[in-house]
Amino acid sequence: MERKYVIRGKKPLKGEIEVSGAKNASLPAICATLLAPGIYKLKKVPKVRDVFCMLRIMEHLGAVYKFEKDYLKIDTTGINRASVPYELASQIRASILFLGALVGAFKEAEVPLPGGCAIGKRPVDFHIRGLSQLGAEIKLDKGNLIVKAKKLKGTEIVLDFPSVTATENLMMAGCFAEGETIIKNAAKEPEVVFLGEMLKKMGANIKGYGEDTIYIKGKKKLKSINIKIIPDRIEAGTYLVLGALMEENEVVVKNVEEEHLETPIIKLEEMGITLEKVGKNSFLVKRGKSIFPVNVMTAPYPGFPTDLQPFFAVLLTQAEGISFVTENIFENRFLYVFELNRMGADIKVEEKTAIIKGPTPLTGSPVKATDLRAGAALVLSGLCAENTTTVYNIELIERGYENFVKKLSGVGAEIKVTESES
Ligand code: UD1
Repeated sequence: MERKYVIRGKKPLKGEIEVSGAKNASLPAICATLLAPGIYKLKKVPKVRDVFCMLRIMEHLGAVYKFEKDYLKIDTTGINRASVPYELASQIRASILFLGALVGAFKEAEVPLPGGCAIGKRPVDFHIRGLSQLGAEIKLDKGNLIVKAKKLKGTEIVLDFPSVTATENLMMAGCFAEGETIIKNAAKEPEVVFLGEMLKKMGANIKGYGEDTIYIKGKKKLKSINIKIIPDRIEAGTYLVLGALMEENEVVVKNVEEEHLETPIIKLEEMGITLEKVGKNSFLVKRGKSIFPVNVMTAPYPGFPTDLQPFFAVLLTQAEGISFVTENIFENRFLYVFELNRMGADIKVEEKTAIIKGPTPLTGSPVKATDLRAGAALVLSGLCAENTTTVYNIELIERGYENFVKKLSGVGAEIKVTESES
């Protein structure tokens, strides 16, 4: 059976949407529970496919988990394996995070080279190089990374690029490395900062997260804790764009961590869109008849997030003039442009830049999600398009959006999930 979204567009949207906890903060947090056996309560973990996939891997390793009323309980006292099965790892890129956690905790790991969204080459060389600099021996055997370390020894690691999950892996491994681990050119994303806070709460001697250089002094033991996951800045950005898509919309987005969205908010303002604060962390999105074209360039945090690039491209199809959107992080992140053009957009891709001519009315058509964010962006374009849009491959969207259909229906969107023979 093939599941798809069927959307009737052009309905003015009105009401409140609450942002869930961040998927990309939850995934490393789940892995970090391996660093100290015990019972953890993680509040606000979103119930999305990627999270369940990580939890299935945790179960395989010997952990027990349960979603209680408002938190996820993970018990890692019974961990008895350090190997991640291929069937699960191949579904999720973030499974690479088990590498740092397992090597840190048990000095050994077997982790298949990961799968995940097809947005680019996405190699893991920084992860491997960093761990071997810490003293781990790593070999590739039948697609599995096999890591062993007699002991880990702190050293200075310079990342070629501030990779998010490589930084997170090295932070986790560094917690148990003898002496001091220094990670230079570290990623500064809010999810990295969150992991830093979590590790510190667990007793790690770690500082500098959120800055270019992270310092960790290894410890013998950490302890289990309770912690609340930060709001999902990408989900927040998704719904802010949704609010701006049509002049008639009156959408309030709740639980927005404004500080994490500085660059996207600046871009919205340049477009002539305003965010009116209507409560603590709640914003009403307002726009006039027309929106202005802007140029967007993705960059590591605090630059413009690559994960919000497709949503801004959709919004810019409605701007009066030509916009340039440049993707600097992943090489395959314009696959959705073809689908968007079929809906009436006028976008040309030249190397790393999409040239968007607006405003173009959009009309419903069948489209295919090419990755998680692009898929959600196509749903947004369906909501401001005439007639019916059918979005296929919705499993990709469900990887990262909690209650997507319910949240959208809650503000009046006409969207439903249907099943058909494939
Ligand atoms: C994380 C996010 C993802 C987001 C991305 C960039 C999670 C689970 N995922 O992905 O949603 O889009 O950050 O903000 O948090 N690279 C290498 N070698 C490596 C590692 C990375 O060349 O060993 C390159 C990648 O191909 C890419 C760039 O570095 O061009 C950044 O990727 P990275 O920050 O590692 O992304 P992820 O951590 O996979």
